[in-house]
Amino acid sequence: MVSITELNYSNTNTYWIEGSKGTLLFDTGWAGTFKSFCSALREHGKVLQDIDYILLSHFHPDHVGIAQDIADKGPVITIVSQQKNFVHAADGVFAKVKGLKFTPIVDDRLNVITTEQSRGFLQSLGIEGEIIYTPGHSDDGISLKLDDGRIFVGDLNPLYELELHKGTEIERSWNKLLAFKPSMIYYGHAKTYLMEGKEQKESKIDIYLINDNE
Ligand SMILES: [Fe+2]
Repeated sequence: MVSITELNYSNTNTYWIEGSKGTLLFDTGWAGTFKSFCSALREHGKVLQDIDYILLSHFHPDHVGIAQDIADKGPVITIVSQQKNFVHAADGVFAKVKGLKFTPIVDDRLNVITTEQSRGFLQSLGIEGEIIYTPGHSDDGISLKLDDGRIFVGDLNPLYELELHKGTEIERSWNKLLAFKPSMIYYGHAKTYLMEGKEQKESKIDIYLINDNE
């Protein structure tokens, strides 16, 4: 069973995803939040060195700000090929903020895989699932889908707004994800949703029951 811990230390929900053979960190926070990140780990009894890989839902600044700070301690940032040209998208934003400590991602230390290779990659951590390319909020958007029904979608526009995005890339990405009949949806900012009729897999985090009619 894969265990999920939500780490709250910035405005972004980031997730410690622990399989039977290793741990994946899904998303990070804004630049300068490394200390808060370490406190959040301590709070949950976690150790940074236990993180094997960092996966980033997309490269907006509030998701990648301390990715390299963490990677400098050992974990390897893994990207899928569709994200290659976006790795430094936030650098310019951080450069404009005076006095902000930001460490740009080091390209030659990246682990670049394809979405087709993602199942094997996740299996190496004892996690059954795959990485799905889900553009819409941004062209570099990916989601992590666990075979047990839990999905991590980053900033992909929330499901309850789907009506507003008919015929767009957002809808196409959601259709890919909904085809897997997800049970729980973990967002980058919104509350975690338990899909109606699905059983909650774990209880460490606040959840919100979504009703199809809402
Ligand atoms: Fe974003």
